[in-house]
Amino acid sequence: KKIVILISGRGSNMEAIVRAQIPGASIAAVISNKPAASGLAFARESGLVAEAIDHTAFATREAFDAALSAAIDRHAPDLVVLAGFMRVLGDDFVRRYEGRLINIHPSLLPSFPGLHTHRKAIESGAKLHGATVHFVTPTLDCGPIVAQAAVAVRPDDTEASLAARVLEQEHVIYPQAVRWFVEDRLVVEGNRVTVRDAAL
Ligand code: GRF
Repeated sequence: KKIVILISGRGSNMEAIVRAQIPGASIAAVISNKPAASGLAFARESGLVAEAIDHTAFATREAFDAALSAAIDRHAPDLVVLAGFMRVLGDDFVRRYEGRLINIHPSLLPSFPGLHTHRKAIESGAKLHGATVHFVTPTLDCGPIVAQAAVAVRPDDTEASLAARVLEQEHVIYPQAVRWFVEDRLVVEGNRVTVRDAAL
């Protein structure tokens, strides 16, 4: 299965997926909307095709989305992976890749969609926080959930300390979710995703 990974910055989730060396998966390209994203350097050093499409060069979201999907489609991917990709994508873009577009969000959805999830978790007094891999649908951070990992919130946690523990779990569940997709094991029915047993 061919995979295109979209990043905006550090790219540690992309790195975890690359390092997982998932059988049957080939990373066709890593694309960033920020030319300075440090994750692009890792991708290049790993011998991957690494491209930047600078969103600031486009007047409208639609124009950026169109350029991005043109760049993606050149690689004809089976799966598009959002890995710390910090641009909201328009409905047309999302529909074009529906069923083959996944994201990781740093909270236990449906709690805390949007930004600043670690701060919101601490302020809410939640005892559990975590990360979610989900299929992307037009409503932000709302698609069918593929995988989640929980971490305990400690009384002395700061946004940074909590984010670091959540990120460790992201690096576990995201490669796992991609592996399931590549193995054709994800069955989506409405909002519910089940993971089929591996073929014998
Ligand atoms: C991750 O916490 C991801 O869930 C969030 O942004 C962060 C990106 O980290 N949306 P990285 O670029 O994968 O290192």
